Amino acid sequence: MPNAFDPNRRRLLAASAWGASTWAASTWAASTWAASGLSLGFAPAFGQELSPTPQCHDGDEPTVRQTDGPYFKPNSPQRADLVEPNSKGRPLELSGQVLTRACRPVARALVDLWHADERGEYDNSGFRYRGHLFTDGEGRYRFRTILPALYTGRTRHYHVKVQAPDRPVLTTQLYFPDEPANRRDGLFRRELVMRLAEAGDGLAGRFDFVLDLR
Ligand SMILES: [Fe+2]
Repeated sequence: MPNAFDPNRRRLLAASAWGASTWAASTWAASTWAASGLSLGFAPAFGQELSPTPQCHDGDEPTVRQTDGPYFKPNSPQRADLVEPNSKGRPLELSGQVLTRACRPVARALVDLWHADERGEYDNSGFRYRGHLFTDGEGRYRFRTILPALYTGRTRHYHVKVQAPDRPVLTTQLYFPDEPANRRDGLFRRELVMRLAEAGDGLAGRFDFVLDLR
């Protein structure tokens, strides 16, 4: 497999992943990331810490890539709290770290999250349950959102794009443990299952992304 930093491969990626490149450029531009603070903007809602997953070992494989599906929208708002007023969805705090293959934290990585609502529907006209943030100096991210409902043909999942500054975009999906529909979804990958724990009235999910960087 060619090296990720091979300039020819980079050009190829840029040419073939037009949508992703456009997304990255527009989101960076809209967010003035260089000036953005590193605080994630709110305290952990549920006060429960989960151990890291997957545990990072030096030289680990990068996080598996997956399709972004038909419902991605560029230019999501910069926010860590996606919970809508009067939401009936079960609260879920999704957190973790963005790491290199050498387990170094990636500061100021862009993490964009989008997912279905409590009825299994995506907001394609607005930005409900869509948002992005930047990791702090320790590579940490933390979203407050809800448990998405299933929709036809898919198991329960989140969609995510992760990008270190000026690096290629990682697009992937996160899955839930012990979800019966995991067995019927051809896209499901065990490596992309979050750690999940009860946390008060809600849930706490944890996933660490490993980018193809040293
Ligand atoms: Fe989806």
